[in-house]
Amino acid sequence: MKTKLEALKNQAINEINTTQDLKELQDIKIKYLGRKGELNTIKRGLKDIPPEERPVIGELANKTAAEIGENLNRVYENLYKKSVSQKLEAERIDVTLPGDYIPYGKQHPLTATVNEIISIFNRMGFMLVEEANNPEVETEYYNFDALNFPPDHPAKDMQDTFYTINAENLLLRSQTSNSQIREMENKRPPLRIISPGRVYRAEAISSRKYNLFHQVEGFMVDKEVTFGNLKGVLNEFTRQFFGQARPTRFRASFFPFTEPSAEIDVQCIICSGKGCRTCSGTGWLEILGAGMIDPNVLRTVNIDPEVYSGFAFGMGVERLAMLKFAINDIRLFFNNDVRFLEQF
Ligand code: PHE
Repeated sequence: MKTKLEALKNQAINEINTTQDLKELQDIKIKYLGRKGELNTIKRGLKDIPPEERPVIGELANKTAAEIGENLNRVYENLYKKSVSQKLEAERIDVTLPGDYIPYGKQHPLTATVNEIISIFNRMGFMLVEEANNPEVETEYYNFDALNFPPDHPAKDMQDTFYTINAENLLLRSQTSNSQIREMENKRPPLRIISPGRVYRAEAISSRKYNLFHQVEGFMVDKEVTFGNLKGVLNEFTRQFFGQARPTRFRASFFPFTEPSAEIDVQCIICSGKGCRTCSGTGWLEILGAGMIDPNVLRTVNIDPEVYSGFAFGMGVERLAMLKFAINDIRLFFNNDVRFLEQF
């Protein structure tokens, strides 16, 4: 029995020391020390040996089990450490590698510009127009007649304005001023409204003109609204939009729906002097039209011009975006070329 135990021990230790695998080590453990393992098989034979020898052999069996156990633990520890370091090595991450490029979308520069204009006027208390009062397909009445255009005004000509073939007097609006009339028709002063949208004109397309462009209309009606209020609001707008106080210039002008009317210039942003292509060397850039709402317009929407007065303005979004981002061709906004759009 002694020799049997000795042989078993040597065999077990030999197997333990040769294995390279944790799973195999587990199998070896079961094979020798398990409930149905080799050692228990031998122990079960204890009843066949003389009683006086049993304690000695029993002790030897326990010692053998302990020794096999010690070897198992030692090899387990080594193999475990090895497997962990192998795993760590295999999963090593080079934190100095550049990250994966994840392409992401961006706002179109016109959307970003409109949003910025709106938020500047929001901060001055102007509220966004109601969607229903701001249609792009419009009648001649709201686009022209209610805005005090005389019946024979040249802008009403088909050469300047797109008329639909669906119905007479239905057109693509040529200005966002139609929203003034619609808002004032169903709201009463005090009013401070900002109204962005698309407008259409039958223009020959060039680097400065397109058939379709965007405007932001704004107006204010209350008791005692003055031209001074208009100047203050617009100067504050240009200051915020261009990021610094920029000189502005109010030039006398004419619109059928405002009196007096003005065109507002801002000092050239990119000016390179005499030969400047942006301002044609004048030093000034026109950015919007404005004026005091004509009493005729107020009367048309049943607001008493003896009690109320108001100002209105309309600005070209493409124009403002071109100045702010130094873009030299309006067509770039509509080509959907990602090489252009990516830059914003
Ligand atoms: N609607 C005018 C245009 O398109 C701009 C404007 C708006 C002028 C409001 C005065 C007041 O040119």
